[in-house]
Amino acid sequence: MKKVSETKTKLKSKDLLGIRELEKDEIELILDTALSFKEVSKRTIKKVPALRGRTIVNLFLEPSTRTRTSFELAGKRLSADTVNFSAKSSALAKGESLKDTAETLEAMNADLVVMRHSASGSSHFLARTTHLSVVNAGDGSHEHPTQALLDLFTIQEKVGSLEGLKIAIVGDISHSRVARSNILAMNKMGAEVKVVGPPTLLPAEIEMMGAQVDYDLDDSIEWADVLYMLRIQLERQEESLFPSIREYAALFGLNKERIMRAKKDVLIMHPGPMNRGVEIASDVADLPQTLITEQVANGVAVRMAVLYLLLGGAEIV
Ligand code: NCD
Repeated sequence: MKKVSETKTKLKSKDLLGIRELEKDEIELILDTALSFKEVSKRTIKKVPALRGRTIVNLFLEPSTRTRTSFELAGKRLSADTVNFSAKSSALAKGESLKDTAETLEAMNADLVVMRHSASGSSHFLARTTHLSVVNAGDGSHEHPTQALLDLFTIQEKVGSLEGLKIAIVGDISHSRVARSNILAMNKMGAEVKVVGPPTLLPAEIEMMGAQVDYDLDDSIEWADVLYMLRIQLERQEESLFPSIREYAALFGLNKERIMRAKKDVLIMHPGPMNRGVEIASDVADLPQTLITEQVANGVAVRMAVLYLLLGGAEIV
């Protein structure tokens, strides 16, 4: 089995808060490490003792099943003890501040907190107030670094390298932490990124992050090597930013007709949960070049790598 290279540096920070803070060699280290853990996930006994005796707290203060389960499985497969706090069951629902919650977890000698929170910047705040390692599992519309890392891993697995690859991220960019983390991550790995959506869903600052902007999906269909579809986040929209779901689907939904004009080997991705028939047609979601299931599977391996590298676990066996 491939050993994690001794010569490469470990992650420089105690935390993983965003892709912005990661250097390219750190991203590569995470992706290489994830490759070893992917092999572990295919075994009958999917467990290594690397983090035995370490405690990981999943603090999910926003609804989430997929990301929380993925982190929980990742921790368990590394033999860590994992504890789940959800918004309803935690003392935060009773008015406790994030700082006090962090102190409580520190007093219990936890080692690492995985946090999802509706406020942008909340994981930076938590990381500054505690000695524990903090992993950002999505903070408002700011960043969702492990999603971007698993997306990089999935693309690399299919095409080898992101260098020069043309990637269109389509949909609700304004509300999307996945888009922000992915633009940064894909750029760092040498890809060319374009965001596509209605002007009301494309924030002005996005070009400064290094993405080209396009308001017409049909312009980008033939250009793209990867079509990355985002969920329309109806729960985050305070005002209506497009006339109707039906109109959105007609202009920006990925359907069979559009796919017919795309490159033959175009890759289709979506972070989930998807709205079938809105941003992606049901028959497109089930095409062989649609990588949604691979993204989920790779998510566990990538999160194992992140937890392992932050907690400096023993050698993988
Ligand atoms: C994403 C999120 O929560 O930011 N989903 C996820 O992590 N499973 C994207 C989304 O909610 O659309």
